[in-house]
Amino acid sequence: MNVCPVRLRGPEHTTDPAGHLEKMRAEHGPVVPVLMDSDVPAWLVIGYRELHHVLNTPSVFARSSARWNAWERVPADWPLLPMVMQLPTVLYSEGDEHRRRSRAITDALSAVDPHELRAVTVRMADRLIDTFCGSGSVDLRTAYSARIPALVLAWIYGLEDRRGDELAQIMTTMIDGGPDAMAAQRELMTRMAHLVAERRAAPGPDAVSRLLAHPAGYTDDELTAELIVVLGGGNQPTGEWIGNALRLMLTDERFSASFAGARSSVRAALNEVLWEDTPTQIHAGRFAVHDTELGGRRIGRGDMVLLGLSGANQDPSVRAGVTAEGNNAHLSFSHGAHRCPFPAQDIAETVAATAVEILLDRLPDAELAVAPHDLRWRSSPWVRGVSSLPVTFTPVTPRGGY
Ligand code: HEM
Repeated sequence: MNVCPVRLRGPEHTTDPAGHLEKMRAEHGPVVPVLMDSDVPAWLVIGYRELHHVLNTPSVFARSSARWNAWERVPADWPLLPMVMQLPTVLYSEGDEHRRRSRAITDALSAVDPHELRAVTVRMADRLIDTFCGSGSVDLRTAYSARIPALVLAWIYGLEDRRGDELAQIMTTMIDGGPDAMAAQRELMTRMAHLVAERRAAPGPDAVSRLLAHPAGYTDDELTAELIVVLGGGNQPTGEWIGNALRLMLTDERFSASFAGARSSVRAALNEVLWEDTPTQIHAGRFAVHDTELGGRRIGRGDMVLLGLSGANQDPSVRAGVTAEGNNAHLSFSHGAHRCPFPAQDIAETVAATAVEILLDRLPDAELAVAPHDLRWRSSPWVRGVSSLPVTFTPVTPRGGY
C-alpha cells in the first residue's frame, strides 16, 4: 500500500474525478493519506464499507474539531478554516448537545407543508425564469440553479420575497468567494440576528419561530449561528444538485433526446447525479477519539478523517452490477447521527425536482450554448458543480402574476 500522500488540490480532482478516484483506490486502497492546503494532513475514506463504519461509529470517529491534533499546523488565513471552525452549532456538537439541536432542526423542518413547499418553489421558479425567458439565452447556473434554493429557504424562514431576494444575493456573493465574500458573511450574520430578534418579539408560522419555541431552548445567539448553518448547508448543495441534473439532461443523450418531454425522467436524473456527480464530494469530517485501525491504516488519536462521499458511492465493490436507477444506497446525504436530516433531504428533493420540471415546462427547447466538453466544473475537490451552464432557447413571454 502506497504511503505517499496525495495532494487535495490540482486539476485532476475536477477534470476527471472518476479516473482520479480509481487511481487513488488502486494505489492506496480505501483509506488514502492526503495533504490539504498548506500540506495539512488527513485521511480520505473512499471505501464504501470503511466510510459506513466511520459514520456508524461516533464513539471512535467523533465530530468535534476540538479533538484535532493538527491545529498548530493550520495557518491563520487557511482557506479551509470555515470547514473546521469550532463553532457551537449542530455540525460540530456531539452526544446530548447534538441530539438537542438535531431534534429541534428536524422538528422545525418537518413542519414545512410539502404541498405549500412545492407551490412556493413553482412561484420562485417562475419569478426567476421571467427575468430571462424573453432573452433567448442565459447562464442557468447564475440566473437559476444557484439562486432558487436560497429563495425557498428564505421563505421557510418566513421572509417575504424582497428579503429573500437580498438573502439569495448575499449567499451568491459569499459562495463566489471574491473580495466581498467576508463582508457578505458579516451582513448575513447581522440579518440573521435581526430575524431572530423579530421572531422572538412576534412569532409567525415559520421555521425560525418554531425553533425559538422548541423545548431545545435555543438562546438568540445560538439560533443565529444555527440558522446560518442550515441556510448555508442547504443552499449550496441543493443548487449544485439542480445544476448537475440540468447539465446531465442537456448533455446525456438518454435525457437530451427527449428534453422537451423529459419530465418523467427528472427524478432519475436527480438520482443519477447523487451517484455520479454528488454535490458534496468530500466532507470534513470526523476526528479519531483514540488510536485505531481503518482499511489497513493506523489512524492516530486526533487525526482528521475526511468523508469521501463520492469515492464511497463509486466504490467498485458495491457498484459491481448495480445501477443508479431506483437505488438510494448512495452516501451523498451521509449516514448516521450527523447525516443530512431526513426532512432536509425531502425539502431538497422537492425543490430540486420542481425547479428542473418548471424549467423544462417553460423552456422546452433549451439547449447548451457550448460544446459539452467546454463546460467547466468548479475547481474544488470538496464540491462538484458546473461553474456555468450557458443555454439558448426560443424566447417566450414572461408569465407574471405571482
Ligand atoms: C433544503 C436543503 C438542505 C438542508 C436544509 C440541509 C441541512 C443540513 C443540516 C442541518 C446538516 C447538519 C446535520 C448534523 O450535523 O446533524 C446537514 C448535513 C449534511 N447535508 Fe444537508 N441539507 C440540505 C440539502 C442537502 C443536499 C442537497 C445534500 C447533498 C446531496 C446534503 C448533504 C449533506 C451532507 C453530506 C451533510 C453532512 C453530514 C455529516 O457530517 O455526516 N444536504 N444538512
